[in-house]
Amino acid sequence: MTGIATTPQWEALRRDADALEDVSLRALFEDDPARFERYSVEAAGLFLDYSKNKITEDVADHLIALAMAAKLEAARDAMFAGEEINVTEGRAVLHPALRDFSMRDYHVGGENVSRQVRAEREKMKIFCDAVHGGGRKGFTDKPLTTIVNIGIGGSDLGPLMATEALRPYWIDGRRAFFVSNVDGQHIADTLAQCDPETTLFIVASKTFTTQETMTNAETAKDWFLKNGGGESDIAKHFIALSTNAYAVKAFGIAPENMFEFWDWVGGRYSLWSAIGMSIALQVGFDIFEKLLRGAHAMDEHFRSTELRENMPVMLALTGIWNRNFQGAASHAVLPYDQHLHRLSAYLQQADMESNGKRVEADGAPVSCATGPVIFGEPGTNGQHAFYQLLHQGTDIISADFIAPAISQSETGDHHEKLLSNFLAQTEALMRGKTEKEAREELKAQGLAPPEIDKLAPHKVFPGGRPTNSILMDKLTPEHLGALIALYEHKIFCQGVIWGVNSFDQWGVELGKVLAKTILPELAKAGEEKPVAKDHDASTNGLIDRINAARAKIK
Ligand code: F6P
Repeated sequence: MTGIATTPQWEALRRDADALEDVSLRALFEDDPARFERYSVEAAGLFLDYSKNKITEDVADHLIALAMAAKLEAARDAMFAGEEINVTEGRAVLHPALRDFSMRDYHVGGENVSRQVRAEREKMKIFCDAVHGGGRKGFTDKPLTTIVNIGIGGSDLGPLMATEALRPYWIDGRRAFFVSNVDGQHIADTLAQCDPETTLFIVASKTFTTQETMTNAETAKDWFLKNGGGESDIAKHFIALSTNAYAVKAFGIAPENMFEFWDWVGGRYSLWSAIGMSIALQVGFDIFEKLLRGAHAMDEHFRSTELRENMPVMLALTGIWNRNFQGAASHAVLPYDQHLHRLSAYLQQADMESNGKRVEADGAPVSCATGPVIFGEPGTNGQHAFYQLLHQGTDIISADFIAPAISQSETGDHHEKLLSNFLAQTEALMRGKTEKEAREELKAQGLAPPEIDKLAPHKVFPGGRPTNSILMDKLTPEHLGALIALYEHKIFCQGVIWGVNSFDQWGVELGKVLAKTILPELAKAGEEKPVAKDHDASTNGLIDRINAARAKIK
């Protein structure tokens, strides 16, 4: 589908938006007591309430019609069928195959990839069990109790987010670190907390060529060799997670210490593959498998449920409505669970690297705005930081509020307090406060009319700010898996409707190439460099200032 904004279905939504312009969300709730039942869906242990979006039956019907016009169902089937839907890289997109437990076989180019998936999963399980059981030890025969995952982007954010989210399931006595930044302070700070005899380094990189990861891995190797380990001990302390066997070997990691995945696994969709090794080592393979099973349950729901009852589809469509018809250029992800504190960082990559595109899959310019800016922090912290703008700022910002009804560690009345905030925020964003209400409130507080006049405008909340609430009983591994898969499929659906290829990321290339050119122009410690002249005046000037400072290093 190209030019989605030129379709009659898009026009119908534009008319809906115009017709609803002066209708408040509060009024929609007052007019329809069944709004909550009407605009909510349940799947894989998750409950999505999307009733606090400015959606009516006409809007919902027209959004579904839009999805049909974009041939969403056919696109979904093509993905699950292993077709080359990542057209610019000539690849299939089959991360659901990594978490399939139905014994369905997935194929890519006629090859049964499910067999490879099962074999690799078994290899991971054997390795985890050996590390946990002591069959696999360090060079001085001590157990490997610390892991350091060295990766970036999809080879870091997913495992890090999930490991943090599963903190209540951590195996006693085990420690996990994640190093991503090429800033040497990241690896140095981490190594300062590690013992070479008990540390396992996991070099996670799909390509095994990423500058940040390879630099950090080399530094870790040097540190290991300088701190008691010998060349022949590297095999005990370094494993690789990659698609690039050749580069893994060149780094010095033997094939038996490499855990493989495949080009049809996108980096930001890879935590279900060998890239999830750090998760499995920290929580145990059984818990990791439960995570996969939760995602599989969401896959089954997504592939077989009609669009209006389909959770990823409806989450995607509310997003399209807010982005393209309500003017929301930013979208907040607000988990009311401290263990989900890396979720929005993870979703920034998942969403913005997937749908931050300005041309359609065939290269034609897109016909409408595409992926929004994703940001967020756990509630309630965000409430005391940036929610002011959500409530009273000049931009409409949509938001997903996510909460478990039961905490993993019920502590006094903390969780009721947390949940009361979770509920109050979406209520406040939806209802707002009219000027009349603000004035009455100030009057009831005993303020004199001039003071009321002065303060009233500041006390008005426009309301009608769109939110989704995603509820689960508890943040179990299964529910976490379902939640991540929900977002993956949401992103996919939106990409299909906007007509972009959600599975490439050419936008990251230009900066990488320029950094390679600039690197040799930068002074090493104490080095004098000639004046920079190969760039624009700004870049040259910055290089010169940096070099002048670095020349002073003794
Ligand atoms: O630069 C972006 C990117 O290619 C991401 O898409 C990817 O997740 C990340 O770099 C890391 O790549 P790799 O796993 O190959 O090191």
